Amino acid sequence: MKFVKHIKYKKNTTTCTSGSRISDFLFSYSARKKNLLSEMTYKKLNNIDHLDLEILIAYVIKKPREFVLAHPERQLTQKQELIIKNYVKRRQNKEPIAYIIGHKEFYGLDFEVNKHTLIPRPETEMIVDETLGLLRSMLRNKTAVIDVGTGSGNIIISIANQTKDLRITNYELQFFATDISKSALNIAKKNAKEHHVDKKIKFLWGNLLKPFPEPKKLTELNVNNLIIVANLPYLSEKIYKESPKDVQNFEPKSALYSDNKGLAHYEKLFQQIKLLIASYQSSVTIFLEISPEQKNKIQTLVKKYFPKAEIKFKKDLASKWRVCVISF
Ligand SMILES: C[S@@+](CC[C@H](N)C(=O)[O-])C[C@H]1O[C@@H](n2cnc3c(N)ncnc32)[C@H](O)[C@@H]1O
Repeated sequence: MKFVKHIKYKKNTTTCTSGSRISDFLFSYSARKKNLLSEMTYKKLNNIDHLDLEILIAYVIKKPREFVLAHPERQLTQKQELIIKNYVKRRQNKEPIAYIIGHKEFYGLDFEVNKHTLIPRPETEMIVDETLGLLRSMLRNKTAVIDVGTGSGNIIISIANQTKDLRITNYELQFFATDISKSALNIAKKNAKEHHVDKKIKFLWGNLLKPFPEPKKLTELNVNNLIIVANLPYLSEKIYKESPKDVQNFEPKSALYSDNKGLAHYEKLFQQIKLLIASYQSSVTIFLEISPEQKNKIQTLVKKYFPKAEIKFKKDLASKWRVCVISF
């Protein structure tokens, strides 16, 4: 069962001067909604979701969201009220909640995020599930897992955290993560420390698999199985331009957009893998997150670089093609 740790809240610097009650505060937003002529006018004037407002209040008063709902009578201090109003303004400007509070939950863990890291998406949990499934099926094998484009470290940290679990019987697991953004890697390292897996994962700076510059380096890992996981930038120009303002104005474009209809990063990765495994004897499995419309094009690309590979695609909970599994 997943366990969500409550995020660490900022140090309380509030004074005791009293402000509104939580209920008044929530009501001031929903009351406007009731009095306005149309939902559209409401959205224009006051486009903050009730749930977002509850999350922001909970964050500022350092309580779980359930507390906000259960204690509408709780008095906010004036300072808390001012901070919440400032956060509401940021949210009204479409800044994602995760950037305002600096955290996002993924695979039951809390991850620090900032403008240098993509906000982890729920659909990416599929890659973690798939990798754990494979690891559980491989008994007593030496295995290396490399996460390419780690961002906040959400994928590799979740895998490393889950493999503390004794049901995973591999007697040796090595974890690596790369990213081209040093700022993202710094956040990933902090997150790994927070979840006590910093000693298990080697974070490497570089272009895709460049930190493994030659086949010898892979061979030196001395493993029977190599697993490469990647959620690289894959949005085509068209899809990027159609993405919500929250995404375009706040999330790093370098984490989302890729040339060549969103496939440039994956093609480059295939080229690197092909060189690296030229004389490699062990089994290789690659898990890639994709955009659903890329399924056929990815299949063609895989066949071009790895004609003998087995290719499978998996759908996400919304029944959209989301993960490509390549094995050889
Ligand atoms: C879509 S985000 C994924 C982040 C995280 N793995 C996740 O699942 O939320 C892509 C990540 O790839 C990184 N990236 C982009 N180009 C790269 C490259 N050429 N080499 C390594 N990392 C790259 C970005 O900095 C970003 O952190």
